[in-house]
Amino acid sequence: MKVLVATEKPFAAVAVDGMRKVIEEAGLEFELLEKYKSADELKAAAANAEAIIIRSDIINADILEAAPKLKIVVRAGAGYDNVDLETSKAQGVVVQNTPGQNSNAVAELVFGMAVMAARNSYNGTSGTELRGKRLGLQAYGQVGRNVARIAQGFNMSVSAFDPYCPDEVMTNDGVKPLHSVDDLYSGNDIVSVHIPATPETRKSIGYFTITNMPLGGVLINTARKEVIDEDGLAKALRERPDIKYLADVKPDNADALKAEFGDRVFFTPKKMGAQTAEANINAGIAAARQVVAYLKNGENRFQVNK
Ligand code: 3PG
Repeated sequence: MKVLVATEKPFAAVAVDGMRKVIEEAGLEFELLEKYKSADELKAAAANAEAIIIRSDIINADILEAAPKLKIVVRAGAGYDNVDLETSKAQGVVVQNTPGQNSNAVAELVFGMAVMAARNSYNGTSGTELRGKRLGLQAYGQVGRNVARIAQGFNMSVSAFDPYCPDEVMTNDGVKPLHSVDDLYSGNDIVSVHIPATPETRKSIGYFTITNMPLGGVLINTARKEVIDEDGLAKALRERPDIKYLADVKPDNADALKAEFGDRVFFTPKKMGAQTAEANINAGIAAARQVVAYLKNGENRFQVNK
């Protein structure tokens, strides 16, 4: 039985070694496809795979149809908007993710960006400190919780809006629960976005949401580019020269935004939030173990396409 690890953006070598070990020790065949350049390469490698482990790699109907032996796809990471859940379900292919395994890495990058914004991109001018500032989290899942924990070390006051998370979970962590997006954006100096890309959230953060922020507001997005209304963002940045936008998920209009707004916007060249050895090891090995547990024992705790 072949387990294909297909990552256009490779894991750290140490994580790949660990995954190989888990898979081979279970008596399964391990194949690695890294830095592939076209969907055809992925399609060809998937053709005789029983399991595929991916990151943000696209598993659409085309790939699924080309993989008749496929039983399971594990997204080594949290967001699974890159996998066609309907087609996989119809084909009897289980899709799982590995929640929480890379969340600290993403949370730490939020602070890389927050400090960069507070210090004016290190341009020599006098910046501000994070201590005492208000940080708002849009969603209080695994990443949001790690961001809150780190923010408390900076002595920031933390609040969160998450209609799916009970207030007590937040209050137990010393985080103030909020009950509207309006309160989140109007009441925080920095807002960090952690919502998934779904039909409901697509383009949900736009001009009115962003311009609701107080003077000097900073918006940080390490979630998905799709949740931002890019025209609304550009209009907000144009009308509010005090606002900054930093993202680990480069918008389609990144070049135009950079040309117009300079250091008030920052984008990583490629999604880097989960790109640490630790996160790669945690998510990669969890994915390998989940594949083995499913193929050998039918264990299916993390299925996302039920
Ligand atoms: C996730 O959803 O887990 C993160 O966005 C990380 O994605 P990546 O594995 O493509 O870096």
